[in-house]
Amino acid sequence: MIFPVILAGGAGSRLWPLSRQLYPKQFLPLGESELTLLQSTIQRLQGLECAPPILICNDQHRFLAAEQVRQLGMEQVTILLEPVSRNTAPAIALAALQAASREKDSILLVLAADHLVRDVAAFQECVRKALPLAEAGKLVTFGIVPTHPETGYGYLEKGREIVPGCFAVNRFVEKPDLPAAEDYVGTGDYYWNSGMFMFRASRYLEELERLQPNMLSACRSALEQGSQDLYFTRVDLAAFAACPEQSIDYAVMEKTSEAAMVPLDAGWSDVGSWSALWDVSAKSPEGNVLKGDVLQQDTRNTYVHSESRLVAAVGVDDLMIIETKDAVLVAHKNHVQDVKSIVERIRNDG
Ligand code: GDD
Ligand code: MG
Repeated sequence: MIFPVILAGGAGSRLWPLSRQLYPKQFLPLGESELTLLQSTIQRLQGLECAPPILICNDQHRFLAAEQVRQLGMEQVTILLEPVSRNTAPAIALAALQAASREKDSILLVLAADHLVRDVAAFQECVRKALPLAEAGKLVTFGIVPTHPETGYGYLEKGREIVPGCFAVNRFVEKPDLPAAEDYVGTGDYYWNSGMFMFRASRYLEELERLQPNMLSACRSALEQGSQDLYFTRVDLAAFAACPEQSIDYAVMEKTSEAAMVPLDAGWSDVGSWSALWDVSAKSPEGNVLKGDVLQQDTRNTYVHSESRLVAAVGVDDLMIIETKDAVLVAHKNHVQDVKSIVERIRNDG
């Protein structure tokens, strides 16, 4: 049985000021539909034969997560709460331990809660293609044909074709520097890692045992000493706090020799910045995306989001203008990655 694992513990700081520490982007309706990114991720599973999802997020977001799941009428979703964040490798370990305790042969379909996928049918077809590989013990990734040397992604070097349409991964490089990313994109042999994975729970736990034994034992204790009520599964704070902090990409995928890749062409976006959101949104003929109470004149390729006031843009190009009650962002489209450093400055200044 496939157990979908939905990772919803990230901060999404590059979408400030809409995405906040207490209300990160996975809980916001950023796509074309009224659903939040988390809800769209859950809906994307409809029609796939799978168990109810295991959702993992930070304890401080438990009510947001529970409410958004309830709105979808999904009562059987397990909500696992992390008292502190230890990045994705431990989060997936907790889910793997849970799934393996329910069913020995469980397969995990690990999804990020903050991505957009336009073509759900194509996504599901890739998942079906990946299933036999995962059953055979591979750690399957979903590869995206790169369009530019993005340094915020992992890169997969395509190897031999294992079965039609599925490839071995010769090399997995997480977040390379710009010259390396340029090289990879230039060769045509590299794909972006979409950040979604599929593997046997037991296979992932074996790799952790080999590569990250301390992480695995900390996650085991955290679950064993945790608690469960009607709504939430909680892990023990002290045990989980002692767990090393690392993403699955660095902790396992860069090191394993069993990675495989299914190419995914489904209008995927990780909505990693305001310009990424502008990219995937429906635009006016001038290239504008205007949300809320917004007026424009002689404005092109601009994203304006107004939450509480009228916003007017006149004679500007390539701007991202985000108005909220207590903060306004005006950023050039080519500098949106730097929003993250503004958020860090705000946090450090208290
Ligand atoms: N539960 C939980 N706990 N979830 C987490 C945690 C955590 O501590 N940290 C991050 N997440 C969630 C995020 O909410 C997101 O849905 C997903 O895990 C991935 O984390 P990101 O922090 O967004 O990773 P990234 O974007 O830097 O990199 C990953 O995704 C890229 C594609 O978007 C990597 O897998 C890259 O290789 C990949 O290219
Ligand atoms: Mg991400």
